[in-house]
Amino acid sequence: MKEIQVTSTFKVYEDVSKLTNIEQSVMSKAVKMLDSVYAPYSGFHVGAAVMTAENNVYGGCNQENASYPLCICGERVALYNAGANEPKSPIKLLAIVSHNPKKFIDRPVSPCGACRQVISEFATRHGQDFPVLLKGDGDMVYKLESCKDLLPFGFDSNYL
Ligand code: THU
Repeated sequence: MKEIQVTSTFKVYEDVSKLTNIEQSVMSKAVKMLDSVYAPYSGFHVGAAVMTAENNVYGGCNQENASYPLCICGERVALYNAGANEPKSPIKLLAIVSHNPKKFIDRPVSPCGACRQVISEFATRHGQDFPVLLKGDGDMVYKLESCKDLLPFGFDSNYL
């Protein structure tokens, strides 16, 4: 028997001013996307933005439905928006922000499991890993240099 440990690492920045200009601009787009959220059922707001290798930025935000299982998360909308517009461009950076109007959540949003799987597909699809920025209602920003840090030991197309 041997034991294998799978680890995950991320950086914690005090606030957005500590990010690069490019990171700040992608983060700003994610924040802007909060204005377009459709979340009448959960009241939880998620905005996201993706920068492609062409340096274009695509936004997304959560879109809910009275038939609850049809709700789709903000980061998936942003990624599919990029995928639909630039199917051949690798992703350079993903930023995800959350806002809870009902209670102040200081720490950055932690993407759901389904979104982690979709984020991971975009890395394998283009054979290129990318960093992920996360922010909540507080100033603090988490940066994961690799999207594998969100889903270590994940399932991917190499098994198929
Ligand atoms: N949500 C996201 O948009 N991203 C996540 O990573 C977690 C959850 C959305 C889905 C739903 O509209 C609301 O937040 C509550 O789950």
